[in-house]
Amino acid sequence: MAEVTRNIGLSLGADICWPLCFEAIMKDLDLRVPTSDGDTLRFAVERVTIEPFDLRQGCKYDVVIDRLTHWYHTSREWIKKSILMNDLYVFNNPWSVQANEKHTSYCAMMRLGMPIPETWMLPPKSYEPGNPDLRPTLTKYAKLFDLRRLGEKLEYPLFMKPYDGGGWRAVTKVDDEKSLLAAYEESGKSVMHVQAGVNDFDRFVRCIGFGPQTHCVLYDPAAPLHDRYTTQKDFISKAEDDHLRKLTLTINAFFGWEFNSCESLRKNGVWHPIDFANPCPDSQVTSLHYHFPWLVKAYVRWSVFCAATKRKMRMNPDWASFNAIGDRDLPFEEKLDLYEKLALRQMDGERFEEFCAKHLSHLDEVAWEFFGTAAAKDAVRQKVTALFPVHEIDRFTELFYGRIEAWRRDQR
Ligand SMILES: Nc1ncnc2c1ncn2[C@@H]1O[C@H](COP(=O)(O)OP(=O)(O)OP(=O)(O)O)[C@@H](O)[C@H]1O
Ligand SMILES: [Mg+2]
Repeated sequence: MAEVTRNIGLSLGADICWPLCFEAIMKDLDLRVPTSDGDTLRFAVERVTIEPFDLRQGCKYDVVIDRLTHWYHTSREWIKKSILMNDLYVFNNPWSVQANEKHTSYCAMMRLGMPIPETWMLPPKSYEPGNPDLRPTLTKYAKLFDLRRLGEKLEYPLFMKPYDGGGWRAVTKVDDEKSLLAAYEESGKSVMHVQAGVNDFDRFVRCIGFGPQTHCVLYDPAAPLHDRYTTQKDFISKAEDDHLRKLTLTINAFFGWEFNSCESLRKNGVWHPIDFANPCPDSQVTSLHYHFPWLVKAYVRWSVFCAATKRKMRMNPDWASFNAIGDRDLPFEEKLDLYEKLALRQMDGERFEEFCAKHLSHLDEVAWEFFGTAAAKDAVRQKVTALFPVHEIDRFTELFYGRIEAWRRDQR
């Protein structure tokens, strides 16, 4: 009848708001989860530090929530060693984050039948000098091509963007031949995609996936940053919500990105995924505001579930099982149902639901209470202070916290 502590580590960078809320809610939840052996599981949360490490040293954490792998290599390599040597459970899978860029995600999901817009890759416009192999390689093998013909084929407006994009870096909407040539000229050493535009779309949705949990938000890319995640409700039907959920679960299970967001555009009733390689998606209250409590609760549920059940890390992807479905002669919707089944099996969907119903049924109430406290408002203020000029701190704290208050009202 022992108390056993499961340790959840937070591997953080510039994150401020969600960890503060996560830590406070975990404290308020004061979880005691009984095991079948008669023990009681308790949960400790700690921020992971950066320091030299012995490749053979142990690891105190059961689960690490990782927000650093995509750019901070020391933490990424510590995580990789801890998975391999100490059975640490981490989301997201660091190898998958490192290896699979937007380009791979397009290819993989095209094969599964998703209506990704036609996309071409271009050799870079210029190269790092100094490689003696460069000239002979290009002289022998690089074919001259006429970019204008590709522009005509894909039709304008189209999009030029880096094959490994993120954060709207170097994304250009190209309206005509002249700007296509100029955009390529400007792309320099980057390897670029040219992608047909999903023009005149009538809905843009970001579906955030967190383990088996999903949440769709109507997104407005033309709005200022703090208004892009809109607070609109009922912007899609239940069937469309299900459809976007299935797309997201498929992508996330395929890549081992348990936490990811998937952007899709609706045109003529068809949902076109355009950007779904976001395995460290925005978690900041300054962009998510109204949706932020959903996200913090999703962090809590999935990390507690993984820590409590000692979930095993899936180190190797299971692409073949998805491709076997994709290669069958079936309508896409039927394939999507099969992908979803496979995804939920991988993500332990049923067991997760049972676990939440049994051990986290008070989370909604605890989180609702917490988001009404001065501590919650202070977490918002701290994030706003880090991002906004001094004279805007009060105004934006009120704006974002006001949207959390609106969420609290809507929950009642
Ligand atoms: N094929 C397309 N059709 C229509 N709009 C597009 C297309 N590709 C990109 N866009 C627009 O350009 C924006 C940025 O493109 P994309 O999402 O692919 O880049 P990103 O760098 O991953 O952006 P972020 O990280 O902000 O999501 C999209 O949010 C969308 O508004
Ligand atoms: Mg995007």
